[in-house]
Amino acid sequence: MIDFGFKFKPPIVQSALAGISNRNFCQEILRYGAGMVTLGGFSIDYESHKATIKMIERGRKEFVLPTNQKDARLWSMKNLNLEKLHKQQSINVNIRFSKVDNLTKMWLKKFTEFVDFIEINAHCRQEEIINTNGGQSLLINLESLECLLNDIRAILPAFPLGIKIRGYLVNEYQIFVRILDEFSISFIHSDAMLPGHNRANIKIIHNLVNSTDIPIIGNNSVKTINDIKTMFEAGAKAVSVARPLIRDPKFIQRLIRDYTGQKNHGSNNNSL
Ligand SMILES: Cc1cc2nc3c(=O)[nH]c(=O)nc-3n(C[C@H](O)[C@H](O)[C@H](O)COP(=O)(O)O)c2cc1C
Repeated sequence: MIDFGFKFKPPIVQSALAGISNRNFCQEILRYGAGMVTLGGFSIDYESHKATIKMIERGRKEFVLPTNQKDARLWSMKNLNLEKLHKQQSINVNIRFSKVDNLTKMWLKKFTEFVDFIEINAHCRQEEIINTNGGQSLLINLESLECLLNDIRAILPAFPLGIKIRGYLVNEYQIFVRILDEFSISFIHSDAMLPGHNRANIKIIHNLVNSTDIPIIGNNSVKTINDIKTMFEAGAKAVSVARPLIRDPKFIQRLIRDYTGQKNHGSNNNSL
């Protein structure tokens, strides 16, 4: 298998929470021992920046980033500077955009100074973002995803990129993973939500694992050690958690303890 540089430990990740997962939040989660934390999502082209302001006006919690160089530099030093507990932890940033404009170029370069991975958001289903052809629209129109990745790679030829997806929207697996391979995507972070239910559809993880060698991070309703096992048995290389952390960031510490406890005490389960 090609090594895409997908390395962090333990394989338990904090997933993006727009308006919530800021520097302080992620710093706390790093202290609780997560293998990877995710800053953002941040909207980094002019259209999604405007869309985000509209979302805030209707009462949604969101992050708004500065649009000029000077403010961006100061903001970054204050808001992106995280301290890792150990070298095996990684920092990820989740970004929303549908085209690479000057704002995107500025932020892409800025993020590379502070994070290990940049995660492209092909997940957001908020109407304002969909109207910009960003978020989950990128999964419906794979040509636009391909163009976007091409434009990002023109700026960041080798920087590790991941993609966050809403798994049930991927229909043409072969085309989808061919595009991701073409642009050396390091990981696929899949929300395996089963629409209308409060649980994951594990078949989504199976389908992805069977279509590609790109490592999969399994997401949705991971709350117990059994949920972790189910994701790993399906072939995910890591799991991620979001909603339980809104009320209780320390939740991730308990999950990590359960996971490392099982691993250290000779779990018979090879997938742990
Ligand atoms: C308030 C809130 C904000 C979110 N913001 C983002 C985001 O900016 N980018 C993203 O990819 N996913 C975002 N998500 C989705 C989560 O990262 C995660 O995929 C989803 O909540 C399912 O995982 P869970 O069952 O562990 O919560 C958000 C979810 C919530 C509840």
